[in-house]
Amino acid sequence: MSLTVQNLCKTYPTRGGELAVLRGVNLTLHVGEALAILGPSGSGKSTLLYLLGTLERPTSGTYRLGQQEPFTLTDAALAHFRNRAIGFVFQDHHLLPQCSVLENVLIPTLAGAAENLEARARELLDRVGLAHRLDHRPAELSGGERQRVAVARALIHKPMLLLADEPTGNLDRKTAQSIGQLLLEMHQQEKNILIAVTHSADLAKTLPRQVEMLDGSLADWTGTPDPRITERAP
Ligand SMILES: Nc1ncnc2c1ncn2[C@@H]1O[C@H](COP(=O)(O)OP(=O)(O)O)[C@@H](O)[C@H]1O
Ligand SMILES: [Mg+2]
Repeated sequence: MSLTVQNLCKTYPTRGGELAVLRGVNLTLHVGEALAILGPSGSGKSTLLYLLGTLERPTSGTYRLGQQEPFTLTDAALAHFRNRAIGFVFQDHHLLPQCSVLENVLIPTLAGAAENLEARARELLDRVGLAHRLDHRPAELSGGERQRVAVARALIHKPMLLLADEPTGNLDRKTAQSIGQLLLEMHQQEKNILIAVTHSADLAKTLPRQVEMLDGSLADWTGTPDPRITERAP
């Protein structure tokens, strides 16, 4: 099982003309592999993650995930495929404030057939260290705990692909480290494909492979220091 992207392009129409954000992205990853994507702000990292997450369709190019070519599907079939095959962790946790921790993890299951995944949700919450917080509301959790819930929710359907967009961007350094570690552990245990977009060289280095978004395509990461870290240096 693998992910294959060939010559993926995304152009947005803007008032100033066409804006070519992705200009031919090529990528192959197999189940069990993890990738960090770095790159300057505005370089198209989130755009690529949205395409890989099938939340948007490309202007051109091909995408295969496992047996499926998602962009050949109708919108309804694509939504069903996405719900099952892809898990998302965003910078903001996107938890529903009125729902408990346990209910939040079960939200992706509400759309499908009446398959009861409560035991799976409880097990995931135990594995992310929140077995004692099942009835809390998101407002009653720390930022790191909220991200742990988001990780559990992303994994509820055992997706083939786990996507994270700046998953530690809102966290202090120590919490960021623990969430980075958790993502990697859960990826290894669940044997999915993990792709994490990050500004953090620390997080990127915990993953086995790093690339950089430059001029609309992916290049090997040169390991140039994170400009935000050098800014903070004395
Ligand atoms: N829906 C859209 N319409 C027009 N331009 C967009 C849209 N989404 C993103 N962009 C532009 O595409 C570029 C890349 O954005 P993004 O993928 O969010 O970058 P990154 O995540 O690397 O910071 C930016 O210049 C942004 O303004
Ligand atoms: Mg972004």
